[in-house]
Formats: sequence, C-alpha cells, structure tokens
Amino acid sequence: MKQKVGVLGCGLMGAGIVEVCIKSGHPTVVREVNQQFLDRGLKRIDDSMDRAMQKGKLTQAERDAARGRLSATTDFEPLAECDIIVEAITEDRVAKADLWKQVAKVARPGSLRATNTSSIPLSSLAPHSGDPTRFIGLHFMNPVPVMKLVEIVRGIESTDAAIAEGQAFVEGLGKTTILAKDTPGFVINVLLVPYLCEAVRLLEHGVATKEDIDKGMKLGCGMPMGPIELLDFVGVDTTLAIADVLFDEFGDAKYAAPPLLRRMVESGFMGKKCGRGFYDYGGGK
Ligand code: 3HC
Repeated sequence: MKQKVGVLGCGLMGAGIVEVCIKSGHPTVVREVNQQFLDRGLKRIDDSMDRAMQKGKLTQAERDAARGRLSATTDFEPLAECDIIVEAITEDRVAKADLWKQVAKVARPGSLRATNTSSIPLSSLAPHSGDPTRFIGLHFMNPVPVMKLVEIVRGIESTDAAIAEGQAFVEGLGKTTILAKDTPGFVINVLLVPYLCEAVRLLEHGVATKEDIDKGMKLGCGMPMGPIELLDFVGVDTTLAIADVLFDEFGDAKYAAPPLLRRMVESGFMGKKCGRGFYDYGGGK
C-alpha cells in the first residue's frame, strides 16, 4: 500500500509534485488557499498529463487512474490522514511558518513533514511543524515531472529514519537524490542563483543582449536553457526571493540581487508562469 501524500500548494512546483505522486500510485490530497488557485493548479496537472498522453508517455487508463487518486481541498482536516506532507507554497519564510503552524494542529503523529523550500533554512520552519525530528527538506526541481533530482535537506533535528523515509519516497517517484545540510541555498541554489544573477548583471550593464547571453551558455557550454530563459522558467520572483535569502544569510556581495531583477518583480514580470518576464510569452501579468 502506497503512503498517502498531502501537498500544500498547487502552483508550479506543487502541481508537479502532485503529478509525480499520483502517477506513482500515491493517493494524494492537494490543498490550496482558495478554489480559484485550486482550479488553476488542477488544470496545470491535467494539461501536463494530457501532453504526456499525446506524446505516448501515458495511456488514457494510466491518466484516469492517476487522476482518480487525487483529491483537492481548501481545508486542513484532510491532511490528518496523510503519511507524508509536502509543503510547496511561495518562497516566503513567514507564510511557510504560518502554514506549518496550521498543519501541526492536524498532522498525524509520526507523519513525515517536508518542505520544498529552495533556500529558506529548515531551522526557521521545523519548530512550527509539530515534530522537528520528522521534518526534512525535499527540494524538487522544475519541471518536476522531467527533472531527475530531488535535493534532500537534513535539518538540525531531522532523524536518520526521517531522511531514509524521504529518500525512499522520492526514489519511488523515479527520482535520484543528493543529501545536503541545512545551509541557505543548500547545494543547487547556492550554485545556480549567483549564476542567474550574474547573467542579469551582464544584461543590466549592456554587455550583451539577453538572446546572446542565452545563446552563449546553450551553444558554448551545453546548457539546455540559457540563464535568462531559465530565470523566466524558474520564476523571476522565486529567483529574487532566493537571492535575498542568500544575501541576508551570508552578507556577501556576490549574492546581492541585481537591481534589474528587483525592478522586474516590482513591475509584475514574474516570468513564463505569468506570460511575461525578461522575454514576452504573449501573456498579461
Ligand atoms: N512538464 C512535463 N514534461 C515536460 C515539461 C513540463 N513542464 N516541459 C518539458 N517536458 C518534457 C517534454 O514532454 C519532453 O519529453 P520527451 O522528451 O519525452 O518528449 C522533454 O521534457 C523535453 O521537452 P521539450 O522537447 O519540449 O523541450 P526541451 O528539450 O527544450 O526541454 C526542459 C525542456 C526539460 C525544460 C529543458 O529545457 C531543461 O532541462 N531546462 C533546464 C531546466 C532546469 O535547469 N531546471 C532546474 C531549475 S532549478 C530549480 O528548479 C530549483 C529551484 O529551486 C529554483
């Protein structure tokens, strides 16, 4: 019997996590703050599975079975039945901590609790989770259905058993893991985000066009996407939030967000998910 999974948040990352869980046979409940966000997230999941079907990677029967494992809610109570709870809401320390306080009231004793944070120290969330010994980081990569890696983060109080359960769970989703300590940005984003910010600085200083920066890294270094394209893909706001955490924590200028990145977020240009970032995807904000 597969564990029952609860996913908090059905945005870009939450929807991807839900999709891989239900495709791997886990009964899953996804929680969002309101019906509108829930509907948008469910559409994202449906569209992604439809694309997989069109590409012959999923049969209609597999799709229907996966969809049948999914329930959606705006309440906290259904999380009481979950063996594993994965939080994937916006990269905001206060919002995440507040959410975990709510979850702690209903979570079953012994359930595994994980945050998909990309940079926020676990120690600022774990005390609110109800059981810091069962609290770990499971950092999925975007797009979740495609990327093979999940970074597992060990909090100060996470037990070996919790880490092993997290590892077995994500390996069951077809992913490979790396293990990181609870330091800001862990492994992936402490490397990736300064690289993305450096690309914005090149653009800001007029060193090259965004197209040439992207072309340079794709054709010159074999990256699947150039940094500006990747920034739009990951989310301009998400990248800024991570850069701010790194700068706050390390106090090192190399992590400082370039002003242009902040201006983009202030202007509402969050990237591909909202139709416009550094590139225009033909959408509004
Ligand atoms: N959902 C599901 N499947 C998707 C998808 C999505 N959103 N986007 C692409 N795919 C699948 C396609 O169906 C296709 O599958 P197939 O080869 O079996 O037919 C495959 O991925 C390749 O897609 P495409 O041919 O359409 O496009 P590309 O070859 O350009 O690949 C990409 C798209 C996989 C996104 C590739 O460009 C890539 O690897 N980009 C880099 C992504 C990356 O670096 N992600 C990590 C970001 S860091 C992060 O997430 C951490 C966070 O904390 C910031």
